[in-house]
Amino acid sequence: MGTEVDGSQLNVAEIHALDKQYVMGTYIRQPMVIVKGDGARLWDSEGNEYLDFLAGIAVAQVGHCHPRIAEAISKQAHQLMHVSNLFHNELQAKLAARLCGLTGMDKVFFCNSGAEANECAIKLARKRGKQLRGPDCYEIITFEGSFHGRTMGALAATAQPKYQEAFAPMPPGFLYTKLNDLAALDQLISEKTCAVMVEPIQGESGVRPVSPEFLKAIRLLCNEAEVLLILDEVQCGTGRTGCFLGSHHLGIKGDVITMAKGIADGFPMGACLASGEAANTLVPGDHGSTFAGQPLACAAALATLDVLEDEGLMQNAEEVGAFLANQLNVLAGRYPHLIKEVRGLGLMIGIEFSQPIAKKLLAGLYRRFIIANAVGESILRLVPPLVITREQCMQLVEALDAELHHVIVE
Ligand SMILES: Cc1ncc(COP(=O)(O)O)c(C=O)c1O
Repeated sequence: MGTEVDGSQLNVAEIHALDKQYVMGTYIRQPMVIVKGDGARLWDSEGNEYLDFLAGIAVAQVGHCHPRIAEAISKQAHQLMHVSNLFHNELQAKLAARLCGLTGMDKVFFCNSGAEANECAIKLARKRGKQLRGPDCYEIITFEGSFHGRTMGALAATAQPKYQEAFAPMPPGFLYTKLNDLAALDQLISEKTCAVMVEPIQGESGVRPVSPEFLKAIRLLCNEAEVLLILDEVQCGTGRTGCFLGSHHLGIKGDVITMAKGIADGFPMGACLASGEAANTLVPGDHGSTFAGQPLACAAALATLDVLEDEGLMQNAEEVGAFLANQLNVLAGRYPHLIKEVRGLGLMIGIEFSQPIAKKLLAGLYRRFIIANAVGESILRLVPPLVITREQCMQLVEALDAELHHVIVE
């Protein structure tokens, strides 16, 4: 089977060749060409069906091609796709109110990705810091292992040298400290600090939840020092963990929250939300984005939130996530020398192995038509669509069982 492009059918080898010649080589890609999605399933151009435990990296939140999202996008595409932010737009206003209601924030800036949401948070925090304590109050503290995106500001916030080195120097004003080490954070906070930025669950470095005590302590420190707490909920937000925000599990509220990924089920959208006085920091001329919050993206996001609610998908994330974690722990009992830890919340799960076998296991899963993701050499990450079922989870567990068995007998 080929893929239709401009009326002609390209075969897989031809697509690979075009890709190699014309697309910048920034991604290591699996060979298959994905052509169709439905719920938690994907199909490639050869007609193979896959079970998807990656969801476009935590994006296809309510499942691939949900009919209500497709209909909302299609309907809106016939009415008005884009309008400049120089005009009002009903769907953007409705979505802003809805997101504020769900997050407890007061105002939203819309954008198109997670990195952009974090850029907005960084600018907002710097401006607020300067207003409060003068021009030197611009430092933002982030945590080792964090991932906040690949634009220069978000990259500077990402405390992982491997992402930064080739692009040095980084914009100044970012300090890094250890996760879950309160004394170290306390020492770094100064008159120059305008914000502390943290993912409630670090995603890209292997699904590492911040300890609830630490997050609560950061909140208190930020209150005392009059420093904004920015929660990066790009990956763990939009219901993935069983609550709308990852931080809702921990009972703490950020001053600024960034979201993207699953917020519009795959349609590009991001949001930076803020509460209290911080919400009024940015004024005309401070920030903007041409496509941000356009009617098409807002229609997709509103439909995503409707489906999330109407189909009880946050509850599904909690229940099926607990079931999957439980089954994986049973597997860990069977392979105590191979599985070091199963961790995460809801349908954001990391499996850490005590040997560098993640890529080998991933290849085995692919051969069994299951899509997942390896983070480094020893961690598998599972972030499926929230519609995933217990039966589908068991298919993954059984496939992983067989692959782990292979590792032992080899
Ligand atoms: C926690 C977190 N923040 C920010 C980003 C960047 O998002 P985007 O790729 O949409 O720019 C990511 C992406 O993986 C992420 O996981």
